Amino acid sequence: MAAITLKDINKRYGDGFHAVKNVSLDIADGEFVILVGPSGCGKSTLLRMIVGLEDITSGELRIGDERVNEKAPRDRNLSMVFQNYALYPHLTVYENIAFPLRLSKTPDKEVDERVRRASDLLELDEHLDRKPANLSGGQRQRVAMGRAIVREAQAFLFDEPLSNLDAKLRGQMRTEISRLQKRLGITTVYVTHDQVEAMTLGDRVVVLRRGVIQQVASPRELYENPVNLFVAGFIGSPPMNFISATVVGDSLHTPFGEWRLPPSRALDLSGHEVVLLGARPEAFEDASVVSDTAREHGVVFDATIDVIEWLGNEQYAYVPYEAPEDIRAQLAELERELDSEALRTQLVVALDASSRIPEGSPASLWLDLRRVHVFDPESGDNLTVQAMGDRTPDAAGNGGPPAAAPADPAAASADPAPETGETPMAP
Ligand SMILES: Nc1ncnc2c1ncn2[C@@H]1O[C@H](COP(=O)(O)OP(=O)(O)OP(=O)(O)O)[C@@H](O)[C@H]1O
Ligand SMILES: [Mg+2]
Repeated sequence: MAAITLKDINKRYGDGFHAVKNVSLDIADGEFVILVGPSGCGKSTLLRMIVGLEDITSGELRIGDERVNEKAPRDRNLSMVFQNYALYPHLTVYENIAFPLRLSKTPDKEVDERVRRASDLLELDEHLDRKPANLSGGQRQRVAMGRAIVREAQAFLFDEPLSNLDAKLRGQMRTEISRLQKRLGITTVYVTHDQVEAMTLGDRVVVLRRGVIQQVASPRELYENPVNLFVAGFIGSPPMNFISATVVGDSLHTPFGEWRLPPSRALDLSGHEVVLLGARPEAFEDASVVSDTAREHGVVFDATIDVIEWLGNEQYAYVPYEAPEDIRAQLAELERELDSEALRTQLVVALDASSRIPEGSPASLWLDLRRVHVFDPESGDNLTVQAMGDRTPDAAGNGGPPAAAPADPAAASADPAPETGETPMAP
């Protein structure tokens, strides 16, 4: 096992396309890192450069203490698991796992030891004599991982290993991969475009956009303190709400009234005429179920809810509103890029299951202003996070999200697992 270090890595393809731009990243020994971003942002390119299937145009890649830019894939000793893993149908599970060892002419005794150790770990002991066709999808996945494990590689690299599984199996495999990774303590880099996978699986998440790293942080930190509009809109489902506001002195004129940020969130907005406020669905509540003490930290406003989705444990209410044309155009642009959920000019608010607000009627909603972010609509920067970075993390006195949540891998990597297909690396 080893650390992986990327320093100013660039990739320009033969046709001139600059797919990866100045990526620097330190992946610690044993760490589980996720690369996430929309289609075409350069995730696979980056992974393929690490593994050696793609030349590095400039920059330095180190595995452990060694520069490996010029090394052939097989000499890097990494195990790559792809979306479509090929198990050999005519070979037993045992021989499928043993395959890379047979290629390297490993003595039988050692093959047996390593295969048995892997199968024990993967709980495949009782399936060793079976053929892949007779296994469940999850079991096949584990066989593919077994093949990666017996190679005793320095690191696992996964490229969207779960994307062709159904939702249920995906969830199971996510937990499985996470568990296995913890047990093995093997350095892992995992590519996905699925933000749920990214949030549940890794110690740290790297958000990429058009070949450029936007933010590297624990899932919790990404969620609570996204550095810009892109990360804010990409992470979280339903996505963060964006509300345009005109700055007048120290108050904000929004389509829902005049708001004033509490001291913990206050920042110098002189020089800004218009800002975008960001608030996650759960920062809102039906005002009638909010306690008087909580009310003080927020603002109550009237809104008309057009649709309510009741989910049992909570409900989502949709509140359409008017936004200025340029803001609307900007949100549409962001939405296109995120190719995920719509960031339309409507609020999506999460209400307590006990709320009885009826559809189509005026309602009184509460917003926790301690959880509001302020974005510069031009640069997309999160001004709140920047302002907090300049401040010592004082106790600010209001249970809002901590100014800078320390990376917390335990909280972050609750529980995921995967499935994969691994193809033995160039023998
Ligand atoms: N061989 C190539 N020549 C030129 N451009 C390429 C080549 N391979 C990939 N690209 C471009 O590089 C960019 C990054 O591609 P990459 O496959 O890394 O994206 P990705 O983030 O893995 O996307 P996806 O989620 O769709 O798999 C894309 O815009 C793609 O068109
Ligand atoms: Mg890809």
